[in-house]
Amino acid sequence: MKDWLKDLPKVELHLHIEGSLEPELMFALAERNGISLPYASVDEVRAAYDFNDLQSFLNLYYQGMAVLRTADDFHDLAIDYFRRAQAEGVVHVELSFDPQAHLSRGIGFDVQMEGLTRAMRHAEREWGLSTALIMSFLRDQPAEDALAVLEQAEPYLELIDAVGLDSAESGNPPSKFAEVFARAKSLGLPRVAHAGEEGPASYIREALNLLDVCRIDHGVRCLEDSDLVARLRDAQIPLTVCPLSNVRLKVVERIQDHPLPTLLEAGLKITLNSDDPAYFGGGVLDNYLVCEQAFGWDRPTFVSLARNAIEVAFMEEGRRQVLL
Ligand code: HPA
Ligand code: ZN
Repeated sequence: MKDWLKDLPKVELHLHIEGSLEPELMFALAERNGISLPYASVDEVRAAYDFNDLQSFLNLYYQGMAVLRTADDFHDLAIDYFRRAQAEGVVHVELSFDPQAHLSRGIGFDVQMEGLTRAMRHAEREWGLSTALIMSFLRDQPAEDALAVLEQAEPYLELIDAVGLDSAESGNPPSKFAEVFARAKSLGLPRVAHAGEEGPASYIREALNLLDVCRIDHGVRCLEDSDLVARLRDAQIPLTVCPLSNVRLKVVERIQDHPLPTLLEAGLKITLNSDDPAYFGGGVLDNYLVCEQAFGWDRPTFVSLARNAIEVAFMEEGRRQVLL
């Protein structure tokens, strides 16, 4: 089954590229940029990845990405990830990035875009790996800052496939970003948002009603609202679920407690993703494997999960038809 799952063509819709920064590359980039890290070794970094909740993870996530300074750093980060992803049978990656987390450290938008898009072109050429870029806004920062970033991104809109919403969810409802997302919509940008990871089911409703999103990232707490589940099912709104992430951030206690089987039984359009693979103990294949171990799903179930992601990905129709 492991080989079969590896060979199954998989599409990744929920991946924070900054969360793919492995400790080895963190050390290499720190050295290249003359930055000293608060860790003595790669093992010490990994030992620090013991999280209580989303915020305790985000603290290390923002600290780790401080080694990214130049376009080459962003390029090398993405290449490192694309290489691993294609080796585990991923054929399309939708990477999100957090421009505000770099702008606030003095790293220009142009620097970020140059490095990431160069890596995306390379992945296509070298591995036939297609990619899409999602620009995410930090929901724990003011909406005005997100609007300013969107303005800065306007010369690059051809290179951006969608906007997203991430970072600390509790207390930062989608409604805070209604104006930003309306502006993104007027610019022709598709929209996605994290909702119902740590936040309540009402945040998923808000993301649908006020941000007009076409996908929900995580969304596992939808089960607390049966009317919402019916709506998500009827409209077949995709949920980009990340099982290893949910365990590591204690959204669920153990993988066996994960609501994935219930979400599937409810007829929801579910996809499996890695979120922040360097921090949560594995990539897309590991997320498929942990489900196989915990739930004993058969091959047709995994085929349908993989197809769901192909169907709703931001990709050219010709490419989609080849993959379907
Ligand atoms: N949730 C919210 N924001 C994030 C995450 C996450 O899992 N990873 C990176 N930013
Ligand atoms: Zn995420």
